[in-house]
Amino acid sequence: MLSLKENLNLDKLPSHIAIIMDGNGRWAKTQGKPRVFGHKSGVTAVREVTEAAAELGIQFLTLYAFSTENWSRPSMEVNALMSLLVETVKREMATLNKNNIRLQAIGDLMRLPDKTRKALLDGIEMTKNNSRMTLVLALNYSSRWEIVEASKKIAEKVQNGELTISEIDSDVFSQNLTTKDIPDPELLIRTSGEHRISNYLLWQAAYAELYFTPVLWPDFRKEHFYTAILDYQNRERRFGKTSEQVAEV
Ligand code: IPE
Ligand code: IPE
Ligand code: MG
Repeated sequence: MLSLKENLNLDKLPSHIAIIMDGNGRWAKTQGKPRVFGHKSGVTAVREVTEAAAELGIQFLTLYAFSTENWSRPSMEVNALMSLLVETVKREMATLNKNNIRLQAIGDLMRLPDKTRKALLDGIEMTKNNSRMTLVLALNYSSRWEIVEASKKIAEKVQNGELTISEIDSDVFSQNLTTKDIPDPELLIRTSGEHRISNYLLWQAAYAELYFTPVLWPDFRKEHFYTAILDYQNRERRFGKTSEQVAEV
């Protein structure tokens, strides 16, 4: 019998997969441990998925690591998450370079603690020439924030005479988002059994296939990732057309 990985059609892989890594807190609870233990354990899943994606030849992997709304969590948890980010980015740097993976980040990075921002910017700088895959961390990210910021930038360009109102179209809009150099995700995965988007890539995921799994993030492994991609490959992406029209191409 073929393994899950062997069942994948390598000619039909998404070029960009976005993940909402959810369920760390509930996972910790099942272990009788504090929530932070769940976040620490989630790093293993990040490593697994990054490795699996790079091995398959996925070009972009975007992970939702911290939402703007997550600031309202208890300060101890927020601080632990920020420290974990610094530690993880620093520790994984050599592995990212060895595997030719480029690190990027989207979100309001200016509002991150200095240490976190510095570790992140250093990581981005140190991996900027890598070309096998781009790992994008969504950090202090909120899609509504991003859309508002893009609107402000566009308004400013109109005000300066760089752009006319009639030139504003969806391409112009995309080019003013923090994801301007990243293709839209074809597949969006959320773990932990929640069926919502939570302010993640609202514009970019307009036509993404959504995949929800009850697996809690710290338990997420390569097999779960392959299962999500297989599910994606068995769907028909119609982009507003009829099934017959899609079959013609
Ligand atoms: C996801 O796990 C990680 C972050 C949001 C940083 P949660 O911490 O949301 O875990 P649950 O949803 O409470 O189980
Ligand atoms: C979404 O998870 C944000 C991240 C995974 C970083 P949350 O756990 O914060 O989302 P809600 O609150 O359940 O919608
Ligand atoms: Mg959650």
